[in-house]
Amino acid sequence: MKQLFLPLIISLFCVISSSLSQTIWLDELDLSAMEIGWGSPNAKKSVDGNPLSIGGQKFERGVGTHAVSTLLLKLDGKGKHFSAFVGVDDETENEIASIEFFVVGNKRVLWQSGVMKAKDSAKYISLDIIGIKQIVLLVTGSDDGINYDHADWCDAKLEMTEPISPTQLVEKRSVEPYILTPQPSDMPKINGAKVFGVRPGNPFLYTVAATGKRPMTFDAINLPNGLTIDKANGQITGTVNVKGEYKVTLIAQNELGKSERELRISVGEKIALTPPMGWNSWNCWACAVDDEKVRASADAMVSSGLVNHGWTYINIDDCWEIKTETDDAMLKGEPRDGRGFINTNKKFPDMKSLSDYVHSKGLKLGIYSGPGPLTCAGFAASYEYELQDAQRYGEWGIDYLKYDWCSYSQIAKDRSLPELKKPYAVMRNALDKVPRDIVYSLCQYGMGDVWEWGEEVGGNLWRTTGDITDTWSSMSKIGFGEAGHEPFAKPGSWNDPDMLVVGQVGWGPQLHPSRLTSDEQYTHISLWSLLASPLLIGCDLSRLDDFTLNLLTNDEVIEINQDPLGKQASRIFNQNGNQIWVKELEDGSKAVGLFYVGDDEKKTPADYFEWERKSKATISLPASSLGFNGRFTVRDVWRQIDLGMFEEQFDVEVPWHGVALLRISK
Ligand code: GAL
Repeated sequence: MKQLFLPLIISLFCVISSSLSQTIWLDELDLSAMEIGWGSPNAKKSVDGNPLSIGGQKFERGVGTHAVSTLLLKLDGKGKHFSAFVGVDDETENEIASIEFFVVGNKRVLWQSGVMKAKDSAKYISLDIIGIKQIVLLVTGSDDGINYDHADWCDAKLEMTEPISPTQLVEKRSVEPYILTPQPSDMPKINGAKVFGVRPGNPFLYTVAATGKRPMTFDAINLPNGLTIDKANGQITGTVNVKGEYKVTLIAQNELGKSERELRISVGEKIALTPPMGWNSWNCWACAVDDEKVRASADAMVSSGLVNHGWTYINIDDCWEIKTETDDAMLKGEPRDGRGFINTNKKFPDMKSLSDYVHSKGLKLGIYSGPGPLTCAGFAASYEYELQDAQRYGEWGIDYLKYDWCSYSQIAKDRSLPELKKPYAVMRNALDKVPRDIVYSLCQYGMGDVWEWGEEVGGNLWRTTGDITDTWSSMSKIGFGEAGHEPFAKPGSWNDPDMLVVGQVGWGPQLHPSRLTSDEQYTHISLWSLLASPLLIGCDLSRLDDFTLNLLTNDEVIEINQDPLGKQASRIFNQNGNQIWVKELEDGSKAVGLFYVGDDEKKTPADYFEWERKSKATISLPASSLGFNGRFTVRDVWRQIDLGMFEEQFDVEVPWHGVALLRISK
């Protein structure tokens, strides 16, 4: 009997244990928990949405990501085996791409790929993970520098010893929103830029931004000749021919009272005297942008009340022009007419009427092109048609141009400074022939230390880095990486650490809530304000949640960004994961950001495992570090409350990845 039953028992045991064990594919997990250096991680596709492919080998399953990328998996000792093929995705255009894959478990490197370059064959991982509590799947740039690139975990799967739900495996980061900004009062209050520049003879538009109960009437005393104010909507329009500095008193009035504030209108050569504030289509819609979405954004800018806080620009990014290399009938056509003037694609049937619509709301319209033959997304750009393009922008009523290097790589002889500067100077020259103030935004990702010469080639702002994405590693690297660029920021000339990644973002038709936690979003907006950065909202404005709206409508935070002195904050302290940044303000007070960045200066792959999040840090601000001695007053800017008088030092508790934003006066 025994002999008969033993094999039966053994096979029954095998059936039961194999039914309990489970295979979990990496592409089944919630990838929003993955930290990624650029773009969004994709299940079964590369980071750019192509079929996964390494060294010519195609894969059906897996995850496409971009270095630096981390994914923490909580195995809880239930893991048995991990396997995957890894390598640089073949879609990468960067021939010198070199990255390294690691599997880190229980603070030890369990497997590492060694440096992998573009076109290398996939490397196979087969790893026993019995007893491991947590593993991190990590891709870094290799030690030889900055060649972070498209990285794939193909056919990646975990064998578990017992069934576990994929959601239990992923360390979701808390994004619980908490609102700090108090609601504006019903009393009228004028917000927005206190100084505004215009060139003599060019069309003028400044909309008085004011919160408070409607109906509200507006007035402006001492307007220079040529300007009038529409008392019903606060739009100041006209042209001023005589150069000079004009001090105007703005008035906003409702049934509860009246608010007055001075506006300095500077008629001269400089525009963008405060960092541009507005919206740009790229971080939400990318190439899915169209006329209707742009109008909806303008509508939402007004209906959400953003306009009452100084938000002004509605900027169309790439994909409004003609694309010849496509089967999409909406995009195809002749890029230019017989005289070389640019055509729009069918998504933008009438640019002039779109611009009239945006202007009628007191807002301004921006557009996008590049110095090469094609834009980054492969649409017609301005190479050898700069004069026609600038003229057409003027005729359409465009107020802002983002000019993106991209395919100029094929034209430039090399990356020497004269070659980097040349195309930007050419478009500057073309814009100067147009009787319209067009803010000029240089986009070439910081090449040749553009901050040192962006002003010289006539830029009003210049991107200092590659594209931002909605992860802590991307946002914090870009934002805190602005340290040292402060000498180059001033009225009319701004460093641009890229657009805001709050709200519903997505780079295409599918949007998702920003993957930054609430603390990280407070850090993002505080830092961009301290940096006097252009503020371009990158989310779907028609779907603003309360948290995001409050983040974007704190007038005391915006005032720091828009301060007329135009100084960019300096980092005065950087130790043990704590940073202090200070920005001088026009009234002699200082805006101070105390950030608990955490120990993100990761030195070895095992350090990436330090997921341990000390929830708070106490950061001390010595008055002497601000050049103050004796007593000083501290205001909490996000909560808009005075914290009192302090002597010598102020201590504050700051959450991990969060900030205390203060305004400090003598
Ligand atoms: C990138 C640029 C992005 C966006 C995109 C459009 O080069 O950095 O901000 O404009 O091109 O294709």
